[in-house]
Amino acid sequence: MKVSLNNKVPVQLILGVQWGDEGKGKIVDLLGDKADVVARYQGGHNAGHTVKFDGNTFVLHLIPTGILRPDTDCVIGNGVVVHPGALLEEVAGLEKQGIKVDGRLFISRYAHLILATHPLLDRAAEASCDAKKKIGTTGRGIGPTYSDKIARRGFRAQDLLDENILRSKAEQCLEIQNRQLRDLFKQPECSLDSLLEPLLKFRDRFADSIIDATGFLQSAIDSGKQLLIEGAQGAMLDVDFGTYPFVTSSNTTSGGVSTGLGISLRNVDRIIGVVKAYTTRVGNGPFPTELTDEMGEMLRAAGGEFGATTGRPRRCGWFDAVVVRYAAQINDLDTLALTKMDVLDDLDEIRICTHYKYRGRTFSDWTSEIARWEDVEPVYETVPGWKQSLVDIRKYEDLPVAARNYVKRLEELAGVPVGLISVGPSRDATIIL
Ligand code: IMP
Repeated sequence: MKVSLNNKVPVQLILGVQWGDEGKGKIVDLLGDKADVVARYQGGHNAGHTVKFDGNTFVLHLIPTGILRPDTDCVIGNGVVVHPGALLEEVAGLEKQGIKVDGRLFISRYAHLILATHPLLDRAAEASCDAKKKIGTTGRGIGPTYSDKIARRGFRAQDLLDENILRSKAEQCLEIQNRQLRDLFKQPECSLDSLLEPLLKFRDRFADSIIDATGFLQSAIDSGKQLLIEGAQGAMLDVDFGTYPFVTSSNTTSGGVSTGLGISLRNVDRIIGVVKAYTTRVGNGPFPTELTDEMGEMLRAAGGEFGATTGRPRRCGWFDAVVVRYAAQINDLDTLALTKMDVLDDLDEIRICTHYKYRGRTFSDWTSEIARWEDVEPVYETVPGWKQSLVDIRKYEDLPVAARNYVKRLEELAGVPVGLISVGPSRDATIIL
């Protein structure tokens, strides 16, 4: 059954179904036009959402995309890890571009803060392991901050609000983290001053924005407000269900909403999975449909596939229906938002991976039985390209037949209807089905 995204529902969740960079920023911005509140539930400034409108480009890392709509409140949930300096910088950048942030941005008191030591530990850990084991992190301190959270020694936003707690917590954290830097990684230690400085600046600016975010969101839901929940990264980077250990350190999938915001998933009326018309990945780890040839180069160039956060070139490959089916199942997707269709405009033929072959067996579902991803052979079907620009098309009926057939085939293979097609970066380059 087709689910029209024109039908408003009170609570929507938008998340990525591949390895991130699916173009969620644009979709959240677009579907968030009526949202009273937009909330983030996981990740940190490792994410990068690019939104383009009225000739302006906005790159957001931590702040929910709703900040670009003047009447929308934004919440950074407890499941997010917040880098104080990065948030201050992002706010300053937005203000320079004419966006008012004060009184509209709220941070959960339980959100953990990324301390000055965390990126040092992240980078030292990466540098210390041999090439095959490197995750290829963004170096932003995400993993070490979540590790400290789980080890119950993290620094939370609310710790800033009491001067004594702030200092004693900072000293405690510093002691343990300096021990790791010094003894484990043979790196210089971090001083208390450099740990405290960004925290104090952050407190001075945001103390009044640190709130009981769960209560705020629950009362928004109870009073019938429109809430949009925004995921970062993608399902295959989920710390539990992704290509572990080549994942990020949070739950990117829909389950993360409950723990990352403190509201039940039962409140969510619609779950939208954002999926690119092909596949990309940054960092290391399994990627069965990766193209290391000219076609991969072509996708990278045509799609502008360079990281919004680190500028790293993204690995590119064909659409992998095994991945999308799996993501549809673990996220319980209602509908797909298919992005970057226009990147495929010039191709004579397009390939779609329908299943895998591994050690003589066929797998149509993502499976933990695959131990050596290098040995997986993607099995493709080939469909004709449409060989025409889609950029100015606004109605599904106006798409060339080959493009409609491509969409239909992806829907069939994914087992989820496509509710939106993006044919260009701007807000209006969109077809809502
Ligand atoms: P971390 O999140 O910095 O620890 O990096 C872990 C893995 O997740 C690396 O492969 C990163 O490239 C990847 N990653 C983290 N954030 C993003 C994102 O926003 N888009 C795509 N990949 C990401």
